[in-house]
Amino acid sequence: MDLSFIIDFEAHQVVARATLDLSRPAGGVLDLDSRNLEIEGVSDAQGQACRFELGEADPIKGQRLRVFTESDRLIVRYRSSNEASALQWLSPAQTAGGNKPFVYTQCQAIHARSLMPCQDSPGVRITFRAEIDVDVGLNPVMAAAQVAKAMRAGRHQVTFEMRQPIPPYLFAFAVGDLERQELGRRSAVYAEPSQLSAAATEFKEVEAMIREAERLFGPYEWERFDILLMPPSFPYGGMENPRLTFVTPTLLTGDRSLVNVLAHELAHSWTGNLITNATLEHFWLNEGFTVYAERRILEALEGKERAELHAALGYAGLLDDIERFGADSPLTQLHTKLEGQDPDVVFSLVPYEKGYLLLRLIEENVGRKAFDRFLRKYIETFRFQSIISEDFVALLRDELPGIENSLDLPRWLEAPGMPPDAPQPSSPRLDAVRALGKRVEAGDLPERELEGLSPLDWQVLIESLPKRLPKQTLHALDSAFHLSKNGNAEIRVGYLTRAAHSGDESAHPAIEETLLSVGRLKYLRPLYLGLEAGGDSGRALARAIFKRARPRYHPLAVRVLEGLLS
Ligand code: BES
Ligand code: ZN
Repeated sequence: MDLSFIIDFEAHQVVARATLDLSRPAGGVLDLDSRNLEIEGVSDAQGQACRFELGEADPIKGQRLRVFTESDRLIVRYRSSNEASALQWLSPAQTAGGNKPFVYTQCQAIHARSLMPCQDSPGVRITFRAEIDVDVGLNPVMAAAQVAKAMRAGRHQVTFEMRQPIPPYLFAFAVGDLERQELGRRSAVYAEPSQLSAAATEFKEVEAMIREAERLFGPYEWERFDILLMPPSFPYGGMENPRLTFVTPTLLTGDRSLVNVLAHELAHSWTGNLITNATLEHFWLNEGFTVYAERRILEALEGKERAELHAALGYAGLLDDIERFGADSPLTQLHTKLEGQDPDVVFSLVPYEKGYLLLRLIEENVGRKAFDRFLRKYIETFRFQSIISEDFVALLRDELPGIENSLDLPRWLEAPGMPPDAPQPSSPRLDAVRALGKRVEAGDLPERELEGLSPLDWQVLIESLPKRLPKQTLHALDSAFHLSKNGNAEIRVGYLTRAAHSGDESAHPAIEETLLSVGRLKYLRPLYLGLEAGGDSGRALARAIFKRARPRYHPLAVRVLEGLLS
């Protein structure tokens, strides 16, 4: 694809031209995905106008764009809608600096179609060139290599290229008041000026991480690994856009305690971006492998004990999500069923953590050495391809013969719920932290032991506590350790979620402050749910906060929270 995007901050639209070069001529009709695109015209390689038809709008899939053509090149002129689901437009007041606007994309799972007509499936790969045209004073960045910069008519045009074939969900750009600081020989961080140095400090160990990942998984194939610090409303922790990972500003804790998110997005450079799930029903191939790879990187950098604590947090989260869907729901299968489902709405930890447990179980069965050999082979075999679970299974059978005798692969892949042979994370540290949790739950406050806890220990301890606690216990914890003001959002939100469930009104100001300043769904969802469960005043507060915060949240967060509060 060859794209030209004029970014119109006033109209909240992208004025676009997309040239699609097909690998062979279309045989009469070509169907593309689109969503809310205002199509001005379609022409072919000869400049002849092509007849086209927009199908009925499906709330999840958008509209089919059917072009009648025999050509191998299509040129589509169009505008994005000001409700394009891939875009969030921020006013200057919604940015850290406060004087320039900001716009960014989030195409995963199926929002690329709201930006450009394309075959918006992870089974398809494209290379592209894109020119982004912006007001002078704003900087565009893209998950691609910058190749040119020009100035016309008082505006900047910056051109990018992605030469490695990528699935459309990895298409990404952002425009704002962005500056750049180098971190290592192939990494830099982009952020608004006021946050740049904090971001550079938080992520300064990124080159060590890349080196470790290369040692485990083979060469890094994307040349650069840059990081973009997103505005607070970014709905995810991180997004593995190739060459330019997007991360939530809640990672800026000052003590690098949340860099596992960075390890996760880096790991996607192999698992997900090099080897991609061919359909979303095999999403576990992306996320399960990536969680496994993330924990291997962490184990190498921070030790087995810490990696195991992360695994324990994941296991607890998986149990919660299985309970939420019901243990017989197809949404708890690794190979899931998505007909009629919105992938954003059914997002859960199942592909992540159940996928992780399967890979860990295979590793435990064959030993690390053999499993590492398999991983290398997997990456070499399928790099730059999109695959399904059967491709993985076939390679597994070839490379680790007999594996199907030691575990029930069909059950793991196709059956719902937690498999009986799922490995249980365990370690002495985990036991010790959970034992402390038990004492806290019983109303004891072993201050000296608690003082020695790391941020990750606190996360584990808080997760081990029930959702409802006596107010006395909450107050004692908070007055000794100020959890409601902790700079690590995992700890703060873990505590505040329990305070919300317990109907503790003294925590309401801190909850409100968090809900107004954070947009990551992982934090919004439990806090709103907690308020909903915490009595009349909690429910009233949830509605009042949502009304105020709504204009700042990402449209996806608005959609999810509306469902939750209705
Ligand atoms: N690719 C995902 C984020 C995503 C998934 C966006 C599905 C849209 C649809 C990303 O790699 C991810 O998993 N992020 C996690 C990080 C965590 C597992 C360390 C997140 O945002 O919480
Ligand atoms: Zn991921």
